[in-house]
Amino acid sequence: MSAAGVYVHIPFCRSKCRYCDFISVCGNEDLQRRYIDALIKEINTGRKIFDGDVDTLYIGGGTPSCLFGGAVRMIADAVRDTFSCSFREFTVECNPDTFDKEKALELKAAGVSRISLGVQSFDDGVLKEIGRRHDSRTAKAAVKIAVDSGFDVSADLMLGLKGQTERDIDDFVSFMSDNGVEHISAYMLKVEEGTPLAADVKNGLILPSDDDVAKLYDHACKTLRKARFERYETSNFCKNGKRCIHNMKYWTMCDYLAFGVAAHGKTGKRRYFNVSDIGEYITSIENNTHVYKTEEDMTTDDEISEYIMLGLRLDDGLDVAELETHFGIKFKDKFGQGLKKAAPYVGYDGKSLKIKPEYALVANSVINMFI
Ligand SMILES: C[S@@+](CC[C@H](N)C(=O)[O-])C[C@H]1O[C@@H](n2cnc3c(N)ncnc32)[C@H](O)[C@@H]1O
Ligand code: SF4
Repeated sequence: MSAAGVYVHIPFCRSKCRYCDFISVCGNEDLQRRYIDALIKEINTGRKIFDGDVDTLYIGGGTPSCLFGGAVRMIADAVRDTFSCSFREFTVECNPDTFDKEKALELKAAGVSRISLGVQSFDDGVLKEIGRRHDSRTAKAAVKIAVDSGFDVSADLMLGLKGQTERDIDDFVSFMSDNGVEHISAYMLKVEEGTPLAADVKNGLILPSDDDVAKLYDHACKTLRKARFERYETSNFCKNGKRCIHNMKYWTMCDYLAFGVAAHGKTGKRRYFNVSDIGEYITSIENNTHVYKTEEDMTTDDEISEYIMLGLRLDDGLDVAELETHFGIKFKDKFGQGLKKAAPYVGYDGKSLKIKPEYALVANSVINMFI
C-alpha cells in the first residue's frame, strides 16, 4: 500500500479577496493560538483512523503564512509525533503579502520543502480589482526569496479576471520560468455564490465570456509548453518532473488524512468531513467531542466513478489496467456505452484512457458520459 498524505487546513487570511469562498476569517493571534491548540489535539488522535506511513504534508488554507511565528513547526511536529513519517514533500501555501526572508527561514527550519505562492496575475490594476493585498513587485520579490531559499516553488495563476490579457499570461510565465519556478497552477476564475465578486456580477460587472476564458486557457497552455512546462492535470503544469506529489494522491485515489476546520479526508472506503464553522470546531475539540460533520463509506460504484473522474483529468489519463485489477471489473463490459459516446473526445490504447488535449476544458462533459 502506498503511503498516505496529510492535509491541514488553516482558516485565516489577513483580508478576504473578492472572489474567494474558501473557509477563512481574519482572526487575531488569540484565535489563531486556540485554533492551533485544537488542531494539534485533533492530529494527535489521528492514529485511531490511520496507522500506516505518511510521506507528504500539505498545509493549505486560507493563508498559512499569516500564522504567528512557530505555528507551522508546531503542526509539523504534531504530525511527526503521531504518524510514522518521512516526508518526500512538505508544502505550505503562502500569500506574497506575508512571505518574506524571515518567514522563509522559519519555514525552512520547520522542514518545509515546497512553497505554493498565490500570485494570480502581474497586472497591478487586476490585482487591486480582485482585492489582493500585494502588487506585482511584492509578488516577484516573494518568488525570488522562495527560490533563493532553496524551496521547490509553485505559483498560482488565475485566468478570466476582468481586464486580463494574453500579455499578462506571457509576463507571468516568462518571469516564473526565468526565475526557477518549476510548478504553475492555472485556475479559471469561478464566481462563487455569496462572494463580493458575485454581487459585483449581479450589479452589472461583465467578466470575460466562456469563449474568451477558453482562449486564455489555450494561450496559457501554449505559452507554458513553449517554456517547457508540461501539463499533467487540467490546471497543473510542471518542469523537470516536479509534479505535486501530495495532490497526485488525491487524483490517484491514495489515502489522505485531513485535519482542521472543513477538512475532508479518505482512508480506504471511508470518507469524513469536518465541521466548517471555526467556533464549533474549536469548542468541539476543547470539549473532547469529535469534529466530523459526516462520515460515510463509499460504495464500490462511488469509488469507481471517482477513480474515473479523477483519472480523466490527468494528462497520463485513466489507468484502465489498474482500475480493472483494483475493482475486478472489465472496463469494456461496464463502460462500453460510455466509451462509444466519448470516442470523438478520447484516446484509448487498451491501457490508458485520455481526454484529447483540445477537449480538456470540457472534461466534465466527457466524464459524464461514463458516470
Ligand atoms: C488558498 S489560496 C493560496 C494561498 C493564499 N491564500 C493566497 O491566496 O495567496 C488557493 C488558490 O485558489 C485560487 N482560487 C481561490 N478562489 C478561487 C476562485 N473563486 N476561482 C478560481 N481560483 C480561485 C487562487 O489562485 C488561490 O491562489
Ligand atoms: S485567495 Fe487566498 S488570501 Fe485570498 S481570501 Fe482566498 S485564501 Fe485568503
